[in-house]
Amino acid sequence: MSPAIPVGPALLHPATTTPLCPRSISNRAPYKNHHRCPLMMNGLRPLSPSNGGRADTPLPRFLDSSGLLIDPPVGNGKEGGGATGEEMPTLLHRVKHSASILSLCVSDELIYAGSQSGEILVWSIETFQLVKSVQAHQGSVLCLYLADDQSVLFSSAGDAIVNVWDAKTFENLYGIYSTFDVGDVFCVVYSSALQTAYFGAQNTSIQWYDLKAKDSRPRPTLTSHPSHRNHRFFDSKGPGGRTAPRPASKVVPPGSRLLEVDQENIVQYAHYGYVYCMLLITLPSGSEIGGDGGEMLLSGGGDGVVKLWTINPATSAIASSLSLSAGDSGVLSMAINDTMLYCGLTDGEICIWDLDTRQLIRSLRAHCDDVLTMSVMGNCIFSGSASGYSRKWNQRFEHMSRWQSHSGLILASAATKRHGRLIYITGGNDNCVAIWDASALVQAESQALRSQNDQLLCSLSKMVSFRTVSSDPSYAEECRRGATYLKQLFRRYGATATLLPSEEGRNPIVHARFGSCGRKGRSKGKTILFYGHYDVIPASESAGAGWQTRPFELTGMNGYLYGRGVSDNKGPCLAALFAAGELVQEQELDADIMFLIEGEEESGSRGFVDAVRRNKDFIGDVDWILLANSYWLDDDVPCLTYGLRGVIHATVVVESDKPDLHSGVEGSRLNREPTIDLVNLLAKLTSPNGKVLIPGFSEPVRPVTPAEEEMYTAITNAIVNKPDWSHLTAAQIKDHLMSKWRFPSLTIHKVSVSGPSNATIIPRAASASISLRIVPDQELSVIKEQLVSYLRGEYSSFSSNNKLIITIDHEAEPWLGDPENDAFRTLEEAVMDVWSEGNEERVRPLYIREGGSIPTARFLEKEFGAPAAHLPCGQASDQAHLDDERLRLVNLYKVCFFFSFFFSSSPLHRVTEGLPGV
Ligand code: BES
Ligand code: MN
Repeated sequence: MSPAIPVGPALLHPATTTPLCPRSISNRAPYKNHHRCPLMMNGLRPLSPSNGGRADTPLPRFLDSSGLLIDPPVGNGKEGGGATGEEMPTLLHRVKHSASILSLCVSDELIYAGSQSGEILVWSIETFQLVKSVQAHQGSVLCLYLADDQSVLFSSAGDAIVNVWDAKTFENLYGIYSTFDVGDVFCVVYSSALQTAYFGAQNTSIQWYDLKAKDSRPRPTLTSHPSHRNHRFFDSKGPGGRTAPRPASKVVPPGSRLLEVDQENIVQYAHYGYVYCMLLITLPSGSEIGGDGGEMLLSGGGDGVVKLWTINPATSAIASSLSLSAGDSGVLSMAINDTMLYCGLTDGEICIWDLDTRQLIRSLRAHCDDVLTMSVMGNCIFSGSASGYSRKWNQRFEHMSRWQSHSGLILASAATKRHGRLIYITGGNDNCVAIWDASALVQAESQALRSQNDQLLCSLSKMVSFRTVSSDPSYAEECRRGATYLKQLFRRYGATATLLPSEEGRNPIVHARFGSCGRKGRSKGKTILFYGHYDVIPASESAGAGWQTRPFELTGMNGYLYGRGVSDNKGPCLAALFAAGELVQEQELDADIMFLIEGEEESGSRGFVDAVRRNKDFIGDVDWILLANSYWLDDDVPCLTYGLRGVIHATVVVESDKPDLHSGVEGSRLNREPTIDLVNLLAKLTSPNGKVLIPGFSEPVRPVTPAEEEMYTAITNAIVNKPDWSHLTAAQIKDHLMSKWRFPSLTIHKVSVSGPSNATIIPRAASASISLRIVPDQELSVIKEQLVSYLRGEYSSFSSNNKLIITIDHEAEPWLGDPENDAFRTLEEAVMDVWSEGNEERVRPLYIREGGSIPTARFLEKEFGAPAAHLPCGQASDQAHLDDERLRLVNLYKVCFFFSFFFSSSPLHRVTEGLPGV
């Protein structure tokens, strides 16, 4: 944090440039408690959450030091006055930047944010991916304004410039500046009808530029450009007559055209205070205050006054027509709904004017700190305050809800409607942009309008909330509830669905079938069996350790969804469900899509084989098996998986016939301790450099064919120059991948001991979990036998009287698909179609294998005599099985789109229409 300095140029401005102000700005200190103070924007004053007046409020449980995470909306906090029966908005997503977010606006597709460090950041409102980040200004970006047709974006900043951008390509079109020292440009609006931008500044002026006239005006000489002007403070001569070196002029983006405001297009002293906010309004014709159906300008100032300005349509010039006084408080923000004007004031008040009657309707103490931003959408008004709290109001200005949306000050907001939802966006000095669904809860009409992606997210959020941990019997009921929810979801989207019981004490399997609609002219298509699992690995829920978020609450952050099972494997299963469901609704499904979603995969698919065999007739014939339960090789290149290793999980226990003992009392060289025996035995599994010593462990392994060699070369070439791999040579990468994918390996997962596990105990028993990954051509039964007999043989040479017990917990055969078969060809087509969008060249997936295992893959192939194919959905950084498991939103949506494509693509059904003789 830069040290605070006593005075800066921004404070000098008002005093030096407004000598005629009857109420001196410096006297009344409009920035008394104002957090958009330019000093702060320049980073000279620490921006701490305590500025928000919440120092006495404990931080929410999940609020980390970076301020990225915050509890879901709560109705109790520092700000009082909550309504009963409040409807709390849902936090849809939070994106984090490295500097405060000072301004926001939103289009149908994009969220634009202006930052304290001068960037404009642009995110997709659908996927929350960062689309663009431009260094737009040399000062804080204080205001963003999107033209009505969303084609042009205006930004105003602390560098005294208004920039004009193409809102889609982000090309800088123009840079508008004034010949005066305007200081910070707090606000900008644009009249599309008059093609004129109006801006309000710190030097109390309002200025405008008519873009229609830009070509007829002489090209500016730039001598008055702010970057060429001497600065009153920084450029004054210091001791010895020296001046600080000025930075090279970087302000003018290449290609942009500079436009100088005409001396005539300036209203000096538009307010007796900074011009904080502006609105462009069209009042209904016949309205009392005129306007005649044309546009009028509204400005709010640090002098506590809102001014209405008529606009001359011929010249774009403004003339003051009315002043409304809000008393002593500065007008920091404004929003308008019909003729009602809502003004956010310093110290937390909101006052409401009816512009028609020019009456102050109400003045209420809405917040406990400055109301820095107001937004309106439909009949909802939102206010955001330096307290960190947002409030939602209805048209009658009855309070609807109040919640803490940022851990610091709320500095900016925007609102829009999307797929029937009311989206409210906030930005703050916690460097975050938060996106809220602020729709009323009961909105039957909007429910129907919700996009498929919204419904998918909503169902995934519900699915993640079930703690479907298969390895812990205490979660059996949660597993059943998760399975039941899934079954009902299948039914809701048009499938027939049932729960197939597994063996006693094991979680049920969800079976569902979406039937082909048998469109005229098409023969019945293939039957695809989608296999997935709804069970998950356990996740630590204690705060402060492990996860950044609550693992069983789906949380959107920086374009990712975080939650246990979101990638492995709930997200991909739901994407397939929604894709098939949508095709059924649109009568576009020509294949039969069957689902087997089991609840024991993470525990070795216990009971699956028997359950499937018992229901073989019910399940019927299958043409292709499809899995979607692995990851890409990196985070960018789509892949197809054609191989998985098998696995043998075993537990090795050494136990004595004595109880746990105290080592001080009983420790002796005559004692054979079980833990020491176990450690010695484990040491026999590998050489000191990690080579597995079980005889025959690496045999048989299929030789590498030339075609396979080529595939590895292709993969290596695709990644060798990527930063994550740059520490390895091409040959090392190839070796690394082959050893993970096509050679066996051994892991010791954990060693545990009996007793209270403190450092004075000789444990009665010690146990180790080990696993062996095996590869095609290795037989499970042979490898198991080799493992057991090797351990037993070595142990016998110890001549210990402790007992050795070896159990095989579960096992899986390796699977090797055929990347040349029709199923893979169809997958490849679909991947290329879905992921090539926006690319000049078609994106070809990499064919990869995986080191992980899915016990059912090979079993299903054999049982149904059908080939399996595997679509990896997640990125390499998904963290499956680890803390902070996640799935990128883009991947979830694309995968859903992929399944629609795959389930309806031509190889799945034979098109018979028009074919003679068929
Ligand atoms: N999704 C994984 C399989 C996987 C793991 C694919 C790593 C790609 C890379 C699956 O859910 C899983 O965790 N499998 C277990 C199987 C075991 C419990 C029998 C595994 O691989 O350890
Ligand atoms: Mn898994």
